[in-house]
Amino acid sequence: MERVVLAARPDGEPDASHFRLEPLVLPPPAAGEVLTRTLWLSLDPYMRGRMDAGRSYAAPVAVGATMVGQVVAEVQQSRDPRFAPGDLVVAPSGWATHGLAPGAALSRVPAGVPPQAALGVLGMPGMTAWVGLTRIAAAQAGETVLISAATGAVGSVAAQLAKARGMRVVGIAGGAEKCRIAVEEFGCDACLDHRGATPRDLYRAIRDAAPAGVQVYFENVGGAVLEAVLPAMADFGRIALCGAIAWYSRDDGGPSAAALWGTILTRRLRVEGFIVTDHWAQFPAFLAEAAPMVADGRLRWRETVAEGLAAAPAAFLAMLKGGNLGKQLVRVG
Ligand SMILES: NC(=O)c1ccc[n+]([C@@H]2O[C@H](COP(=O)([O-])OP(=O)(O)OC[C@H]3O[C@@H](n4cnc5c(N)ncnc54)[C@H](OP(=O)(O)O)[C@@H]3O)[C@@H](O)[C@H]2O)c1
Repeated sequence: MERVVLAARPDGEPDASHFRLEPLVLPPPAAGEVLTRTLWLSLDPYMRGRMDAGRSYAAPVAVGATMVGQVVAEVQQSRDPRFAPGDLVVAPSGWATHGLAPGAALSRVPAGVPPQAALGVLGMPGMTAWVGLTRIAAAQAGETVLISAATGAVGSVAAQLAKARGMRVVGIAGGAEKCRIAVEEFGCDACLDHRGATPRDLYRAIRDAAPAGVQVYFENVGGAVLEAVLPAMADFGRIALCGAIAWYSRDDGGPSAAALWGTILTRRLRVEGFIVTDHWAQFPAFLAEAAPMVADGRLRWRETVAEGLAAAPAAFLAMLKGGNLGKQLVRVG
């Protein structure tokens, strides 16, 4: 049994020295507990925030503690009557080969899809896309929706849900190949490459792709991309503020607050940040829309897979820089 712990808090960009692989020792399950063996670990941008101390919507990982995360796992021993050895579950085991949790903390993996879909298209990232698009931005058929990180775990689902609901969808992604996939696989009407583009170039490209302005921006990245997007918003546009990955390590200064604030005022924008866990009661409504689309092939996904728990830190660091296409996973078992 092994786990990856937070070895030290990064000051700015993290690197491999901030993680450590070490043996894991777990007691046998107590009454109500379930021992699981990890098959798939989900790597998500929010984990960067948990490496920092300070006030946030969730507690930081303590130095020396297991990195947090959701996994798909197989039940090995169960002292909860609802679970039996061999069951496949989503569990909060973190970056570890095994986990011990109360049965109440586990959920079943949906049938009929590869189990790791419960960490991506039919799990937290998919739900995030659905909440941001339908509940926070309340995007409507006929509107132009702009989505950054459009080939990522969240963005690719947001693009396809928006298309299925009759919106015009413009993606932003890093590189020509990701942009091709955004259009050909995820149904974007256009996709703009932000890598190497100045904010002014990107602004012009957005205006060309959305001449009447962007009514809804599904914001995943912040940084220089946000600087390009804000002036391209339509008057009274709405922004679902899902993430700002360019700033998670404070390594991209980006535009000044004064410039951002001024554009929000003059364009009369409505900006709403959201955290998906606040909306978890609506998970069944998300699944009711997304699961049939997965089943009949209308909702597609890509995944980038690292092999073995020891590969998790490098895969995580790469994902923060755009090294992933679609959902970033680690095949642990
Ligand atoms: N609010 C919530 O509850 C919630 C829940 C889940 C996720 N999120 C947020 O949603 C966003 C996407 O998450 P995800 O899991 O789907 O990750 P992801 O999009 O699969 O992976 C992250 C992507 O961010 C892009 N990126 C990295 N640095 C960038 C930069 N400086 N400028 C522009 N793009 C950059 C890269 O794509 P390109 O190569 O295309 O640039 C990279 O592939 C993240 O900000 C995450 O924190 C929020």
